[in-house]
Amino acid sequence: MQNLIWRKIFLAFQLFPGNLRLIEWIFIIFFLLSIGFSVGFIICRIVYNKRSPPDEKSGDTGLQKQAANESERKYKMLFDNNPMPMWVLSLENYRIIDVNNAALRHYGYSKEEFMLLDTRKMRPAEEERRFLEDMRLRIQGVSNRGLWRHRKKGGELIQTEISVFDFSSDGKPVRLVLSNDITEQFKTADKLKRSYDEIRGLASHLQDVREEERAWIAREIHDELGQQLTSLKMDLSWLSRKMNPQDEFISERIANSLSLLDDTIKTIRRIATELRPGILDDLGLVPAIEWQAEEFQKRFSIPTHFSSDLDQANFPAGVSIGLFRICQESLTNIARHAFASKISIALNQEAENILLSIEDNGKGFQSEKSGNQKTLGLLGMKERALMMGGKFQIESRQGKGTSVFVTVPYNIIG
Ligand SMILES: Nc1ncnc2c1ncn2[C@@H]1O[C@H](COP(=O)(O)OP(=O)(O)OP(=O)(O)O)[C@@H](O)[C@H]1O
Ligand SMILES: [Mg+2]
Repeated sequence: MQNLIWRKIFLAFQLFPGNLRLIEWIFIIFFLLSIGFSVGFIICRIVYNKRSPPDEKSGDTGLQKQAANESERKYKMLFDNNPMPMWVLSLENYRIIDVNNAALRHYGYSKEEFMLLDTRKMRPAEEERRFLEDMRLRIQGVSNRGLWRHRKKGGELIQTEISVFDFSSDGKPVRLVLSNDITEQFKTADKLKRSYDEIRGLASHLQDVREEERAWIAREIHDELGQQLTSLKMDLSWLSRKMNPQDEFISERIANSLSLLDDTIKTIRRIATELRPGILDDLGLVPAIEWQAEEFQKRFSIPTHFSSDLDQANFPAGVSIGLFRICQESLTNIARHAFASKISIALNQEAENILLSIEDNGKGFQSEKSGNQKTLGLLGMKERALMMGGKFQIESRQGKGTSVFVTVPYNIIG
């Protein structure tokens, strides 16, 4: 009986169409079904992934989210506890979104008060417009936005140096503002500047006093001493005429005295002129510099050319003497250091300025080096130029010569 059943099953296998047996068909159907399931699964997965929010994608993104939260917490802690006052500002409505503890301490507000502050009003009215313009300006990365004055809760104004960093939060533009209080440095720098101005004022006053004294001594020597020596010379000449011409010894002594008197008169004239050339007060700056150039050429035998288009210029006394002394000091430097064979001096008007230039073709020097030396000639020239409201510049190249340029604003000329 059992044998019969097995035989029927065996026949059933043989009964299916084609050459395939039932067992082979079952395998093929299973195979096709498994492929169908796999493709279906992949399609479902793709569709599902597209619809799901990113943080639900996989277990990995959960970890990423945790890491992001952790780093956000760290940044928040750094922000809150940073010693530098800082806050975050909306670039849309200028409202404060967040503020750190240092800012609250420094500006004297509670957090609630600070968050309600109108940032436009925390500065003097005259800086409000500049602030609004600055809010429109976007610069990538951290940018220094210069010096601003801020008002603390008590009304006290402080000087701050502001740096900002623009970024977007929840898709909205915001700005991190870092406020560095430099009020103290500002006050110190201001004090330093004031004391420097005072010293410069004192130096200028001493210079004026010195010039006045020189002018007075020059006048006394020239007028008084000069006149007395001239009278003495006239008296001696009279005596020599009245003397017995036979007395050769006395005649010779008188002739020697007369010659000595002549030399003395010349010497005191030279001293008086060096102290303060009369030509400067009598004829003005242009003839005075021309005379100075001629004298220099005579004394040092270096061809010295002078040119000017300012014949009629009427300089104030301070400017005349200032430019004259700078020219004098430059020529002294040329005689002492340059070994030049040619000098050009020019006094001209250029645009809004009067330009005095003294150029030589001597050995030159390294201009940067001279700043470190304890010499006062160049420094004195620079100070004189500044006192006149002008500028002093020196250009020098080794082996090529030196040029001194002084510019003073034209409007000082009467
Ligand atoms: N025309 C020039 N040619 C070459 N070197 C010069 C010239 N003018 C200035 N220097 C250089 O610059 C230096 C500084 O000049 P500065 O007039 O300040 O000082 P100084 O002439 O040496 O001394 P002083 O203080 O008596 O004037 C000089 O020592 C010299 O080396
Ligand atoms: Mg000098």
